[in-house]
Amino acid sequence: MNMHVATGSVTLAEKGLHVPLADGKQAYFNYYWLRDNCPSSFDSKTRERSFDIFHLSEAPRADRAEIEGDALVIRWAGENHVSRFPLSLLALYTEGKHRPDPADLPRKAWFSDHYPDIPRFSQPELMQDPKMVAKWLEAMIVEGLTIVTGMPDSDQGLTDTVKLMGHVRPTFFGEYFDVKTHINPTNTAYTAKALELHTDTPAEEHAPGIQFLHCRANTVEGGMSIYSDGVAVANAFREIDPDGFKLLSEIDIPFYCEHDTYDMRSRQRVIELDKHGEVSGLTISQHMADLFDLPQTVLDDYYPAFCRFGKMLQDDRFMMRFLMKAGECMVFDNHRIVHGRMAYSATSGDRYLRGCYADREEMRSTYRALTTEGRFKA
Ligand SMILES: [Fe+2]
Repeated sequence: MNMHVATGSVTLAEKGLHVPLADGKQAYFNYYWLRDNCPSSFDSKTRERSFDIFHLSEAPRADRAEIEGDALVIRWAGENHVSRFPLSLLALYTEGKHRPDPADLPRKAWFSDHYPDIPRFSQPELMQDPKMVAKWLEAMIVEGLTIVTGMPDSDQGLTDTVKLMGHVRPTFFGEYFDVKTHINPTNTAYTAKALELHTDTPAEEHAPGIQFLHCRANTVEGGMSIYSDGVAVANAFREIDPDGFKLLSEIDIPFYCEHDTYDMRSRQRVIELDKHGEVSGLTISQHMADLFDLPQTVLDDYYPAFCRFGKMLQDDRFMMRFLMKAGECMVFDNHRIVHGRMAYSATSGDRYLRGCYADREEMRSTYRALTTEGRFKA
């Protein structure tokens, strides 16, 4: 039986209590939740939970509870412990909604005319000003693509820039890569051929999130960079082909990367949705798509949708073309922005891009730390 005992204006029930909040509404809280999240459960130095609820011998239950000023005060049954919760803290958790995330910003889609408006940030300024870094990371979260200008002409310059948002995230081919013509290429990128729009290393189970491409030299004929916003394209695709969109966002297809000493494989969805059901990114690469090992009758529907979407990526409405200049570094979300380049003449000059990756989540973490107080900062 559910025994309700009124204590002041707080009502105790069997598994939790009802508490009036500032907006006049009653809110219900479970006793386990309250006991586990007592403000004294957290160590102020490590900022981690130091209380271990697994060590309670009995289910937690309030002996008494009342409102004192702007706090809920609970005296626990069976142990000598009192908890004091600011009502403002409780108000955040009344409806079981996820904690607001300052890095969960709405994405702004962009189109083929975006080049002059790409947010640009000076590397020497970023190195000196954390507020500028916060603006840079915000642009990365919202638009998925930025250009860092004034890069030092050195390997260290790239490493220093990555470290403003996180760590260099290695892939199965190492920490850094050099995009120039190789004598024995193991990758289309290392030739002078055209490189169709793609996301990088789709054959990794968790492909790296943020890509850096530092242009050290670009004096060749041709070799224009091409970029499309996967969010803009996938949203347009959803409008004209909802059935195709469903296939591309629900069916995993195989990707591979194989050579003498490696055989990397994964299965990915071409269109990635976030927890709101909004398009958050893409995984696509024609040169690394494996033979689709799906029932052939599924492919009757999948292939037309896949090709229709692939064509849309290259549509003039979406595809931006421009020439990278030495001293610029393209920084972009490798799960959202597709990139490629047009063919170039390898003997006409030098073309050298040095690249690496960082992690999407670590970038968001840095953004939160730079822009908000968090739960523990005084
Ligand atoms: Fe690439």
